[in-house]
Amino acid sequence: MKPQKVLMCKPEYFEVNYSGNEFMKGNIDNVDKAKALSQWNGLKEIYASLGYEVVLIEPVKDLVDMVFTANQSLPFLDASGKKKVILSKMKNEQRKGEVTYFKDFYLKRDYEVIELPDEIRYFESMGDCVIDYNRNILFGGFGFRTDEKTYDTIANYTDFKILKLKLINPVLYHLDTCFSILNSKTAVIQQSAFSDEGLNSIKEYFENIIYADEKENLDYFVCNCHCPDGRNVIVQRGSAKFAEDITKTGLNLIDVETGEFMKSGGSVFCMKIMIY
Ligand code: ARG
Repeated sequence: MKPQKVLMCKPEYFEVNYSGNEFMKGNIDNVDKAKALSQWNGLKEIYASLGYEVVLIEPVKDLVDMVFTANQSLPFLDASGKKKVILSKMKNEQRKGEVTYFKDFYLKRDYEVIELPDEIRYFESMGDCVIDYNRNILFGGFGFRTDEKTYDTIANYTDFKILKLKLINPVLYHLDTCFSILNSKTAVIQQSAFSDEGLNSIKEYFENIIYADEKENLDYFVCNCHCPDGRNVIVQRGSAKFAEDITKTGLNLIDVETGEFMKSGGSVFCMKIMIY
């Protein structure tokens, strides 16, 4: 079953003060905090206007990336419908402290919390896991922020069919920077992020693939869009080709401003997680 609540974190302490990915490099101390807050509010209002309950987790001082709530946890339902969550192991030192706050959040909401074993070093949850809930398939990116073997463990805990995708372009460090599922027929991808093998397996699963223009993806994070309901596609404003592709597909484009967050390497998909 598809999760129907949106979890977000107010960007109270958000800034770019280290270089954790290519986008952050030129943007140290370059975030306009007031602008970031108003962009975040804009996104939150879009989810509310689409009828989703938006749940908030308290921001924590010094945890500058906590606003990217996609990355700390992987919530799911087990076969009996019980709420469970696998916690991340963040790659970058600056983000490791975030996970414990998510653990507390889920414990309060009656989730069973699963911590990954020691032999797994990195896993950044919904940054690297893009899920087709209708078909119960988890597309799992690995290579930069997630260890490939994490997915063997996830396969033991969940009943998702897992399709692993190796990421080969270091700029596109999370699967959600180069792949998005709009509905069970349609996906958006940035081809250069995948090996031929990965591309072929994606093609097996989707009838309609929208190929993002490389520059548009870097400028507007189009692959980091989010389509919560198979119909409305929320995306950073400004793309031309992508906007046209979405309209041609018969979907509804909702554009937002996430420019301050793109300076940190994230946009719509990273700024929320869907929870039960
Ligand atoms: N600055 C954050 C990092 O490098 C951005 C995370 C964006 N999240 C995402 N799911 N792509 O970790």
